[in-house]
Amino acid sequence: MRILLLGGGGREHALAWKIAQSPKVDELFIAPGNAGTANCGHNVPIQADDFEALKSFALEKQVDMVVVGPEDPLVKGIYDDFKNDGRTAHIPVIGPSKTGAVLEGSKDFAKSFMLRHHIPTAKYQTFDGTTLEKGLKFLETLQPPYVLKADGLCAGKGVLILPTLEEAKKELKEMLGGMFGNASAQVVIEEFLNGIECSVFILTDGKHYKILPEAKDYKRIGEHDTGLNTGGMGSVTPVPFATKEWMLKVEDRIIRPTVEGLGEEHIDYKGFIFFGLINVDGEPMVIEYNCRMGDPETESVMLRLKSDIVDLFEGVAKGDLDKRTIEFDERAAVCVMLVSGGYPEAYKKGYPISGIDQIKESIVFHSGTAEKNGRIVTNGGRVIAVSSYGSNKEEALKKSFEEARKIQFTDKYFRSDIGRDL
Ligand code: AMP
Ligand code: GLY
Repeated sequence: MRILLLGGGGREHALAWKIAQSPKVDELFIAPGNAGTANCGHNVPIQADDFEALKSFALEKQVDMVVVGPEDPLVKGIYDDFKNDGRTAHIPVIGPSKTGAVLEGSKDFAKSFMLRHHIPTAKYQTFDGTTLEKGLKFLETLQPPYVLKADGLCAGKGVLILPTLEEAKKELKEMLGGMFGNASAQVVIEEFLNGIECSVFILTDGKHYKILPEAKDYKRIGEHDTGLNTGGMGSVTPVPFATKEWMLKVEDRIIRPTVEGLGEEHIDYKGFIFFGLINVDGEPMVIEYNCRMGDPETESVMLRLKSDIVDLFEGVAKGDLDKRTIEFDERAAVCVMLVSGGYPEAYKKGYPISGIDQIKESIVFHSGTAEKNGRIVTNGGRVIAVSSYGSNKEEALKKSFEEARKIQFTDKYFRSDIGRDL
């Protein structure tokens, strides 16, 4: 098979690493990829949302399947674009239709979907510019802290958690006044939930599903969960509180009703679903849906997937996912993210990276890297994920931290407390 993978971050390097191991794959293309994905296949200089260029390339190279890493092309409708074009209709796209991707693309849609299908989530109401006064009144009925969410995609910045009513009211006015442009034309206000988060992933063909290993991700820049939110500073799988019993609750109350709900609403969905969950006194509740894998969760989860991921993708495309097997590696896996100094605020790019060739105990996934004059240089906030196996998470973390110290670039930073809270 010839596979075209879209995206160019750490998640895509981990997916490329796993796809390239499949005996079913003859050729793997990654568009646009990064300096690391070039070791798993051929990088192609096409952006993941340039649908016309991607279709031409897929036809020219006789690609058999397209796998979508990031949400952006999905929310823009790449699945439908390939399907509705007579030339590319035969090429399966692993990822939901544009309507399915709205689960991530609109918080209001996601919340109303959960309400319709009795899926446990925080109580909420949605407001727009015409209902601002009602929104301010609704805030008065809630207890602090206050959770405000821009309805649309904001690159992970659209959720504000405010400690006082005064700040919540001020921010609501600003959000509805265009703080995030059109993305905050509607704002979801919801009840604050107290608990530990956990990311659960499935692959679905629209009818059947397979649950992947769960993971915990570390969003804040500072140790002990302090400072600004980032794209994610590390991940750990398995998650100790996600016991068999807890995962059965997740499956019964959240996963099955979601897949059945998509079917009942005739939403074409063949791809990953990422359930952002929170454990509230032992009960799982949904914080958000994403229509893709998590980053940096993928950089640990892929290590624990023993089965051939391409066989699972074929099951998704053909609608016989129930006939495929999924097996997990019993070991723990973790990833520690090396980031540019200054991230998630302003940072510099273009610093040479050394020491990657010294890494023997871990797997290095590139996130924000590029190749310049034959050298690997930093090219983003999150630069490299150092992923490791261990008989338990402590052993895996020890390896990742030791190996992380061998990789050098100016102003490198990583959190050395990943996994300590579990
Ligand atoms: P989201 O983009 O919806 O995942 O929200 C970003 C982050 O805000 C989540 O990962 C949580 O840490 C936090 N968050 C969102 N909604 C809530 C809530 N209802 N209660 C507590 N924390 C929340
Ligand atoms: N790790 C969270 C995300 O990918 O959205």
